[in-house]
Amino acid sequence: MKLFITGFAGFIGFHAAREFLRRGWEVVGIDNFCDYYDVRLKRDRAAMLAKEPSFSSCELDICDLEGLRRVFAEESPDVVLNLAAQPGVRYSIVHPFVYQKTNLEGFLDILECCRHAKKAPKLVFASSSSVYGGNKKMPFEESDQVDAPVSLYAATKKANELMAHTYSHLYGMQTIGLRFFTVYGPWYRPDMALSLFADAMTHGRPIKVFNNGDMLRDFTFVDDIIDGIVRVVEAQNLPLYDIFNIGNHRSEKLLDVINILADALGIEPKMEMLPMQPGDVYATYASIEKLSKAVGYEPKTTIREGIPVFAKWYKEYHKL
Ligand SMILES: NC(=O)c1ccc[n+]([C@@H]2O[C@H](COP(=O)([O-])OP(=O)(O)OC[C@H]3O[C@@H](n4cnc5c(N)ncnc54)[C@H](O)[C@@H]3O)[C@@H](O)[C@H]2O)c1
Repeated sequence: MKLFITGFAGFIGFHAAREFLRRGWEVVGIDNFCDYYDVRLKRDRAAMLAKEPSFSSCELDICDLEGLRRVFAEESPDVVLNLAAQPGVRYSIVHPFVYQKTNLEGFLDILECCRHAKKAPKLVFASSSSVYGGNKKMPFEESDQVDAPVSLYAATKKANELMAHTYSHLYGMQTIGLRFFTVYGPWYRPDMALSLFADAMTHGRPIKVFNNGDMLRDFTFVDDIIDGIVRVVEAQNLPLYDIFNIGNHRSEKLLDVINILADALGIEPKMEMLPMQPGDVYATYASIEKLSKAVGYEPKTTIREGIPVFAKWYKEYHKL
């Protein structure tokens, strides 16, 4: 079986590629290596994958429709895992057009290529917990209203879900969206809170704690996310179109997360308390019942287990 991963050099894409290769899949990856964050990290992830005999890749933008058509024609993937996106809630407030380009236009290119493929592949794509906006009902369920996004990033992810639904309906293609809840682990993104905290702590700077630390996040260890992705990709019994939360079903206090990280790094943290940032939400908390019933998803890693694994990788990678 052949899997086509977009955004393979990204945090989740890299882990997904490694696991599917381990499971005997042939994996083809594309990535545009954009400089949203340190490109060296993306190149290092790509270099590790390049050693695998069943892996091949090319540098390609999902907005390059002709290039994408070529890859689809040459590779005929059984499954497409679309992870390429412009991520980040705060960045979307200052750089809206890159979200329009990659997350909307690029996603439409993926849908079109799937639709016109000789044998339409199953499409599994990344959505986000941010589609829940300021949802007050906890935990967040897939049946909750998600019509009030509070960032453009969230709006593009919700748009992806609607676009995929349309293509499933019109062309009988299978499309499954996964709403990821704050993923973390080794090879982590440097723009995410845990990385920013680790960077500040290890350089003796105060960490910026928004909403005075009064925030809750469903932190999901990357191995659990990958386990969920594998189950969805390999499942034979899913409907033509569906959306699933993929989180940890534990909503953690930000201050607890900071203290566990500080312990793991062996550092006394200095904190700068700041107000809530525009586009941020107070809490995320995933109901995972739907994914659990559909494919037996069961996350295993608590933050007390997962954060030290991240901290160990962080120190090794940055030679601290
Ligand atoms: N990490 C999380 O906590 C989280 C939470 C919710 C949703 N998501 C979603 O999961 C997916 C993967 O996230 P990640 O954390 O691995 O992010 P990431 O930025 O590490 O990975 C995305 C990859 O896509 C590539 N890319 C960006 N634009 C591209 C384009 N136009 N063409 C080709 N490649 C392009 C980037 O170079 C990057 O390597 C994204 O869709 C993101 O929105 C992630």
